[in-house]
Amino acid sequence: MQIRTRSSKFFLALVALGALISGASAMVAQEAARPWMDPKLSPEERAEMVLKQLTLDEKLALLHGNGMAHEKWWTMPLTQFANGGAGYVEGIPRLGIPPLIMSDAAYGVRDSAANGRYSTAMPSNLGAASSWDPDAACAYGTVIGQELRAQGFDMTLGGGVDLVREPRNGRTFEYTGEDPLLAGTMDGSMMKCEQAQHVVGDIKHYVMNDQETGRNFVSAILSKKALQESDLLAFHIAISIANPGAIMCSYNRINGDYACENPYTLHDVLKESWGFKGFVLSDWGGTHSTVAASAAGLDQEQPMANFFGPKLKEAVAAGQVPLAEIDDHARRVLYAEFLSGIVDDPPQTSVVDVVKGLETAQRVEEESIVLLKNDGAILPIDPSRVHSIAIVGGHADLGMISGGGSAQVDAPGGNAVADQGKGGKGRTHWHENVWFRTSPLEALQAKLPNTKIVFDPGTDPKSAAALASKSDLAIVFAYQWESEGMDLASLSLSADQNALIEQVAAANPHTIVVLESGTAVTMPWIDRVAGVVEAWYAGSSGHKALAGVLAGEVNPSGKLPITFPKDENDLPHPVIPSAPPRDPATDMGNRAALPKNYTVNYNEGAEAGYKWFEAEHKQPLFPFGFGLSYTSYEYSGLSVDSAARTVRFTVANTGKRAGAEIAEVYAQLPQGADESSYKRLVGWKRISLAAGASETVVIPIDSRVLATFDEAHNNWSFAPGDYGVFVGGSSDSTPLTGILQIR
Ligand code: BGC
Repeated sequence: MQIRTRSSKFFLALVALGALISGASAMVAQEAARPWMDPKLSPEERAEMVLKQLTLDEKLALLHGNGMAHEKWWTMPLTQFANGGAGYVEGIPRLGIPPLIMSDAAYGVRDSAANGRYSTAMPSNLGAASSWDPDAACAYGTVIGQELRAQGFDMTLGGGVDLVREPRNGRTFEYTGEDPLLAGTMDGSMMKCEQAQHVVGDIKHYVMNDQETGRNFVSAILSKKALQESDLLAFHIAISIANPGAIMCSYNRINGDYACENPYTLHDVLKESWGFKGFVLSDWGGTHSTVAASAAGLDQEQPMANFFGPKLKEAVAAGQVPLAEIDDHARRVLYAEFLSGIVDDPPQTSVVDVVKGLETAQRVEEESIVLLKNDGAILPIDPSRVHSIAIVGGHADLGMISGGGSAQVDAPGGNAVADQGKGGKGRTHWHENVWFRTSPLEALQAKLPNTKIVFDPGTDPKSAAALASKSDLAIVFAYQWESEGMDLASLSLSADQNALIEQVAAANPHTIVVLESGTAVTMPWIDRVAGVVEAWYAGSSGHKALAGVLAGEVNPSGKLPITFPKDENDLPHPVIPSAPPRDPATDMGNRAALPKNYTVNYNEGAEAGYKWFEAEHKQPLFPFGFGLSYTSYEYSGLSVDSAARTVRFTVANTGKRAGAEIAEVYAQLPQGADESSYKRLVGWKRISLAAGASETVVIPIDSRVLATFDEAHNNWSFAPGDYGVFVGGSSDSTPLTGILQIR
């Protein structure tokens, strides 16, 4: 009996071993049959090997989307596999190539609640850019990348880096500012770390999608030189840092040609000159042709197959699109899959690390809040002197607002403010004003337990003013909501919020305004308030970060990534030219139905943002790079090493608190070079300093922003001569000056 049992165990073990061996040898055989699965090979080699195995139909399947979850008019049979996300591209299962499962993810993963999932909202992209901290941007991208994977996505549609030329653009909060070096560095750092989590990275909207008005047909007019030295430069810097798998071309036209069929921007610049090896996908409905778009360099239509489905196959059959072009498109998609790691490590759905997300969101926001005004050191709140605080308006009892459109992250627990739109249950409506359940009132109460803090909704300014008048301090919360698909009529807060601020400030000179905005705000009341704090769209832990700043646990260190004008009349375009209506009955890709003659002439050329203000000698309300601290800094000892193209100087913390100073370096082209009238940001460093401490830093000058583009010869050069160098804590406060010689 025993012997029999033993022998049957032995037999079973033999069977198991046999199965293992045959399983392993099957794997070995599969590996041998799939040599592209060897991660030691380069993404290029691997993509090439797979490409050789593909049928024409398999190649073509990589070149279009299959609908968009939640959009009835954009549904196809395979949309059901989109995981509730914005886009789905079939994989090639027989060869181990996974599908592309895409989600929007500008400041967090979109469409979570409707799918029964959770995602963290980071501060808005513009908010995070105010930290000027590439490490914070990396942490930001890391969280988003991890949450995408945990939710089953393997491609992000985040990464907006269009320059903020037009601060009323409803998507300003999704972008990283008005300066090519800052915007490109921050966006590139976010996307580099997001893609490092093994999701295909994306940078968008390429290029000049600088306003939402008429975005599907507007033609942005500016010279190639200006384009190269401004918006394209921001993209180039971001792409060179992130090396993303994908670039999304934009809805608009550039100098007449649609961005998704623009031979200059797609072929000549992105692919030829910059050597971009990933794929270009169209913005949703931004494809307008088959042959022209394919030839210009569009690789993948999204979210449908109107032009790159059967029509592309027909064009191939008719010899209008060469097979080599199809190979190039497909190779690029495959390359992006190998580059990003999604072939070797496809996403595994898992529980999102909520704590990590919230901690990162808080840390980034703490670095991003910008203290704009602080008369008489009214902040931080000193509880030994301030015994009562009136908190007024902005739904501060309930939460903080977020940016809308395709960037919208669903608020966990739903919208904190009822009746704010048509959203209702489930999916957040495209233009719903969404407040996260992050009450700054509660967060401040937690920080100041012995202070009497009373809330007034601000709906009746008289009652708010009465409360303010009997409080030691008043804090008015004001918001300015914005979203994709709209532009702001002006940078002003709503009239009732402006009136509320005036009345509260009249009742109590110790009034502080906290702004929750996606862009610059004009402030007619600025002289009558003691303090202004810009919190941006603050994300899932924004209330805690803000309370930390107000109570002084956190020393504010953010600096503006965009200029705040006094008045819209000071902008290059005092008003956004109104656009003819689009025929909503037609498909967005149908160019015949789109108005043809709507243009915006960017006559200011490369002078976006502070460069315009400086060149035009206009004084802004708050300049680019500006932000106060609870301590003070002193700059000294500048030396410029022209050969090494570096600057060296010392920053001292001369106050009583530890803090972080963003030291900014600007340079101005030599006299005689054509753009001598403004200076450009060429480098910066965030320096943490204990009270009384000082540090000598060496900062490289980024030559890319000093070179000028020669349109006739299609190349870059440096104007020889003496470049002015300016160092300080803001674009309009540069106590140190020097000379950089380029011969
Ligand atoms: C937006 C893109 C977005 C896409 C998918 C478009 O409307 O412009 O930024 O990624 O929709 O949601």
